[in-house]
Amino acid sequence: MLRAYGDDQVVVDALISGLPGQESQLLSALVAGPSPSADAVAMLAGATSKGRNPAQVQSIITLASNDAQPQAVRTALMSGLALGLQGGVGNSFGNVVAGGRAGGGIAGVTRRGGAVERLQLGAEPAALTRLAQGSGPAAENARQVLALLDWPGKPPPPAAPPRSPAEERLFAMGREIYNGSGACAGCHGPEGQGVERVGAKLAGSPFVVGAADVPIRILVNGKEGALGLMPPAGQGMNDEELAAVATYIRGGFGNTAAAVVPAQVKETRAAYAHRTTPWTEKELTVRRP
Ligand code: HEC
Repeated sequence: MLRAYGDDQVVVDALISGLPGQESQLLSALVAGPSPSADAVAMLAGATSKGRNPAQVQSIITLASNDAQPQAVRTALMSGLALGLQGGVGNSFGNVVAGGRAGGGIAGVTRRGGAVERLQLGAEPAALTRLAQGSGPAAENARQVLALLDWPGKPPPPAAPPRSPAEERLFAMGREIYNGSGACAGCHGPEGQGVERVGAKLAGSPFVVGAADVPIRILVNGKEGALGLMPPAGQGMNDEELAAVATYIRGGFGNTAAAVVPAQVKETRAAYAHRTTPWTEKELTVRRP
């Protein structure tokens, strides 16, 4: 049934909402079948992981780490997993990712001021950490998922190298921009701690400290998510100003991600020049191969 109608959102939604608690079995069956629909796989992985049951999350990790699976299926599994763990999935992606706009709550995840609580596993998801050590989209997806998980003895993320004098100058410039009137601090708090229902927590946000193109894209086009709408606050900035503010939020508030240089901003702007609307979490969460 799912296989035949996998691309039909309405049918998939109806099936999922009719099967509370059985998403995980359905997912295994779907993945085991011939040519499963990537959208249906992602949606079911999202619906399953949203329940934040460590055993079920582990079973998705096992499926996603199996290199006998087609790459598209593994990507879809991790994409759904990442989104589900962030509370961004309900019955249908489009719906729910844009869904909580007016500050609607999300079941299952504490998201005070936009912070995503990491899910505590009993042990290291070894298959996933192995995958994350490689390069390419699968490794990047794995790193994104790992950032949403905790387990006993998890090593702290490697700290970025100390800022060079040029980066230090950008950082200072970024701090001024961030705290300027009407800029960022009003919505995100002077310490990046977030403001309930107004601005996401930037300290520790995977959208800040992950791949550098993500905060750049958010600043240029905005982001529409569970908390509301992030305006395209960086659109009118030049490449240096934008690099400065990105460097500041990635390296301030206890964050330790690498600085951003103006050339990266220029390149990212060019790569996404066609984009006019705010990004959704789904688009920003997982890289496609
Ligand atoms: C009018 C309020 C407002 C202003 C001004 C604003 N933001 Fe935001 N920002 C938001 C909201 C709301 C979100 C969360 C959107 C969502 O729900 O996905 C957000 C999200 C973000 C994110 C993604 C983090 C995450 O976890 O979702 C980044 C990065 C960010 N803002 C940086 C900035 C910077 C830097 C500035 C200043 C140049 C700025 N914002 C100005 C409201 C604002």
